[in-house]
Amino acid sequence: MKKLFSTGSLVFLLVAGAAAADVVWMDTLDLSLMRQGWGSAQTNRAMRGGPLKLAGKEYERGVGTHATSTFWIDLSSGAENFLATVGVDEAANGPATVVFRVTVDGHKKFDSGVMKTGTPPKSVDVDLKGAKTLLLQVLDGGDGVGFDHADWAEARIMTSGRAPVAVAVPVEEKVVLTPKPGPQPRLNGPTIYGCRPGNPFLYRIPAQGVRPMKFTLSGLPAGLKVDERTGVISGKNPSTGTYTVTIRAKNSHGTDTRTLRIVSGETLSLTPSMGWNHWYAHYDRVTDQMMREAADLMISSGMADVGYSYVNIDDCWMNAPKHGDQKRVGPLRDDQGRIIPNQYFPDMRGLADYIHGKGLKAGLYTSPGTLTCGGFGGAYQHEAIDARTFAEWGFDFLKYDWCSYGHIAEGGDPKATNIPTWGKGAPTLEGYQYPYRLMGGLLRQQPRDILLNHCQYGMGDVWEWGAAVGGQSWRTAGDLGFELDRIFDVALKNSEHRAWSGPGSWNDPDYIQIGWIGNARGGGLPEPCPLTGNEQYAYMSLWALMASPIFFSGDMTHLDEFTLNVLCNPEVIEVNQDALGQCGSVSHINEQLFVMVKDLEDGGKAVGLFNRGDFPSEVRASWSLVGCSGSQVVRDLWRQKNLGTFETEFKATVPRHGVALVKIQPATAGTAKRR
Ligand code: GLA
Repeated sequence: MKKLFSTGSLVFLLVAGAAAADVVWMDTLDLSLMRQGWGSAQTNRAMRGGPLKLAGKEYERGVGTHATSTFWIDLSSGAENFLATVGVDEAANGPATVVFRVTVDGHKKFDSGVMKTGTPPKSVDVDLKGAKTLLLQVLDGGDGVGFDHADWAEARIMTSGRAPVAVAVPVEEKVVLTPKPGPQPRLNGPTIYGCRPGNPFLYRIPAQGVRPMKFTLSGLPAGLKVDERTGVISGKNPSTGTYTVTIRAKNSHGTDTRTLRIVSGETLSLTPSMGWNHWYAHYDRVTDQMMREAADLMISSGMADVGYSYVNIDDCWMNAPKHGDQKRVGPLRDDQGRIIPNQYFPDMRGLADYIHGKGLKAGLYTSPGTLTCGGFGGAYQHEAIDARTFAEWGFDFLKYDWCSYGHIAEGGDPKATNIPTWGKGAPTLEGYQYPYRLMGGLLRQQPRDILLNHCQYGMGDVWEWGAAVGGQSWRTAGDLGFELDRIFDVALKNSEHRAWSGPGSWNDPDYIQIGWIGNARGGGLPEPCPLTGNEQYAYMSLWALMASPIFFSGDMTHLDEFTLNVLCNPEVIEVNQDALGQCGSVSHINEQLFVMVKDLEDGGKAVGLFNRGDFPSEVRASWSLVGCSGSQVVRDLWRQKNLGTFETEFKATVPRHGVALVKIQPATAGTAKRR
């Protein structure tokens, strides 16, 4: 005979004749602390609100969650075991694949293997004696997180000690690793810059150090001049050729010199573009005022001094046929067929001029479809006039977002007889390429250097042909805002396309969402991002090593010291901007540890030692893995500190979801200096 009664979250189980352990049901813990890929954890319910149901059986108690899901429990003392029945909930309603994992004090104690819709439920019984932390995870089974509704049915901890409690994540302090720049000049930015003969030239020399600073240039081609006070170079792109310019920056604390090769020819974006994009901060709330403010802050925060230069408007600057805010509603085009910006953008040319006035560049967005993803006016059948208008306004970058073009590609416009469509058939390569080739060609005809970003989420293996149809970068996947908890997976997938990375040709895994960002689901107002400090270092290191475009997309008005230290370490950015343009190659050490190695133009190698596991771990980069031999000088790039000379390997203890990012150079080449 047994009797149950409860006090708060503790339920005491008394079994006649024996002193029993207490039961703490998982559903009584603070489930708001569970982090998961979609929705929020459900108490005694499945994700869609129905009963927890595994293989035809309903369970009264348990937790419904969605991959990828992480739940940390502090066991205090006296825990005995963890029990549960796990599986994919019957209401998943699609091809779910998940893995349940139970980790105790950093050691994996249960792994369900991949479970699919219909896989019989599995029983979990894990010994917790003497343990301190329990980590319950539901991982994606290898095909993304779609439909991954997962149940921890009858999940409970037996304990004879204090009640276990849920904790957010193991508490981690955000540590500023990067030393503050000194007062003396330090010239940053790429060593190579591409432009096309005859078009307007604009380049603000990135330089840290106290102002006033004087910039003196030698070797500047005819037609270009520098503003000695601001370091902004402007004029007309020189005729075809390579011009090596020596830049000297001087202030009352010292001088610095650096060379910049200006390559005038066909290829733009010889290094990945860097800047800010409004999307993940302001969504459909964006205004001209926000863009101007972002440009001001790009200068005053010091971001421009390490190389950020594009200030890009994303979706929602045009009129929409319908929208909650009437100031964004109106006719899409005027009598001449020109696109009409909404009332928050009264003067597009004035806005671009304002951004240019700071030596920065301006970007904007549209779709090849009739409407953008946000439901605003797209470019369909107005491509030529839009390309011309954007150039006349003075924009330097276009993000071209597939969105409603899918309808056209499927044959949705019977009048469009010249457009390759696939009707009800399989998508064709030509059908994917057509709108991008069209816009790429039109932008090429404008008397401006305008970068084109193909935003179509990797369809038709865009990395293989994105450059050939006129783009300089292309998104390789969907919106990272929906997958911020999968940064490692997204980056590793992106790096598989490394063969197509190079000058003028960049794989784009989406923006840097740190600092204050709005939740992508629903376009929320900016709030502190959910990533730990170590996750943010890993994120930025991955983008640097992959030579990905670096667009910060958080709120520029909420830039704190930690965020700026992640965004603005010039040695990390130098890895990203390296002239070889190589995307690092990955060596997996095990499921959780990997090393990414990127060759640099100066013969050095940038190496990231990553730990995607949930506990600190030693990561070893042997020289055979790095691809070098003999004595090597190792420099910690986040701390900007030489670590010494190493003979056969470099190893580091890397924090949970963190990185050690180093530069490795043969000792004979001297010390690991910056240049
Ligand atoms: C898509 C893109 C995002 C953003 C939005 C705007 O989702 O992938 O980057 O541009 O559209 O609506």
